Amino acid sequence: MPPLPLHEELAFHAPILGEPSLDAAHRALFATLARLAALPPADFTPAFDDCVDAMERDFRAEDLLMEAFDLPMLPAHREQHARMLAGLHHAAAALARGNAGPARHAVALLREWLPLHIETMDKGLVAAVARARALGAHAHSD
Ligand SMILES: [Fe+2]
Repeated sequence: MPPLPLHEELAFHAPILGEPSLDAAHRALFATLARLAALPPADFTPAFDDCVDAMERDFRAEDLLMEAFDLPMLPAHREQHARMLAGLHHAAAALARGNAGPARHAVALLREWLPLHIETMDKGLVAAVARARALGAHAHSD
């Protein structure tokens, strides 16, 4: 069997949390980041903007899950999301002005940061949701 293209291999090896919606989002992000790194300049800008949108959706979904179950890690976890998004928005603004350096650097950093974030933050989130559900807690939406 021929080896998988790199982006598929990275997607395949994305950490598995056991929360299907988050795992699917993370696999898609890993694949996107691997593809972004190889894109030529003309294709990079719209793909980077799409990636930032996807990161925002993923972070928001996690934030809502933590809010729904009143999880105590919410402030620290949300702060990590906010810091990363601030950097990504800074990079997107530079990219819109024609400077791709920060965005290219952000893609490289994300490929290191995201697995660490999943291991140290998202796993705890999924475990806490599972514990809350086991205790009979239900998500609330207020
Ligand atoms: Fe997260």
